[in-house]
Amino acid sequence: MIYLNGKFMPIEEAYIPVLDRGFIFGDGVYEVIPAYSRKPFRLARHLNRLQHSLDGIRLQNPFSDKDWENLLEQVIAKNEGEDQYLYLHITRGVAKRDHAFPVDVPPTVFIMSNPLLPPPAQLLVGGASAITAVDNRWIRCDVKAISLLPNVLLRQLAVDVHALETILIRDGFLTEGAASNIFVVKNKVLLAPPKSHLMLPGITYDVVLELAVANQIPHEIREISETEIRTADEILLTSSTKEIMPITSLDSKPVGNRKPGKMFTRLYMLYQQYKATHMRGHFPDAASS
Ligand code: PDD
Repeated sequence: MIYLNGKFMPIEEAYIPVLDRGFIFGDGVYEVIPAYSRKPFRLARHLNRLQHSLDGIRLQNPFSDKDWENLLEQVIAKNEGEDQYLYLHITRGVAKRDHAFPVDVPPTVFIMSNPLLPPPAQLLVGGASAITAVDNRWIRCDVKAISLLPNVLLRQLAVDVHALETILIRDGFLTEGAASNIFVVKNKVLLAPPKSHLMLPGITYDVVLELAVANQIPHEIREISETEIRTADEILLTSSTKEIMPITSLDSKPVGNRKPGKMFTRLYMLYQQYKATHMRGHFPDAASS
């Protein structure tokens, strides 16, 4: 069951007009929110980021945070599975094709839920492979825009060679993955690229850094050079749907000793503990848990 413009319906019955600006221009934004034990994870942060994305494209938020929460709860209740991921999508609505914003047109609002499956155990134990590519996206990557063509093309480069992700490098420095954030570990220090307009401020990225602070894990938030990626002891990938995953091969070369490292194992365990706290009904920041 999905939500579309005020109604709940089976996804097979959901249609939008071809003049929707999401279809014509990719003119909209989205969010992906995991729900564990039917409770949205870090909802306030996702809704904050949604507001940031809407501000970035000058589209008014159709709902208050409370309304969003109610809607998401209803979508979760109408779908199967304790763990789901919610996909929210807002476009600038339906209007005659013209690049300029339409006047007085209601936005299209769509919410769906899909089962949230943990990453395959074989990738957590054995590690995953990634490739690198030049980050050729626009320079508002902090906006979670539905116009994802560059990300689609970049991610496909990885799929073409049976790798999990494409790690993006802009002007010699790490930005993020095509659909994830990336951390590097060197000499037992966790390195994270600083948030900027060149990357999506990941909600999972925040959890990892909060866990690092709370557990005295040495970390630095700073620019990471291509050389540092290529000589990393470990590379970690984070996203709402993949949580934390170890990257053990980069451009067909081993990362460290080609096995998931100590930093990955530690953060993975801490992340699972943090999730369990959330599922028991507490919603602390990792730093205070
Ligand atoms: N993508 N960077 C990009 C470009 C992303 O698309 C994503 C997530 C992230 C990680 O952000 P978060 O931890 O908040 O999920 C970083 C989602 C899962 C997607 O598009 O399906």
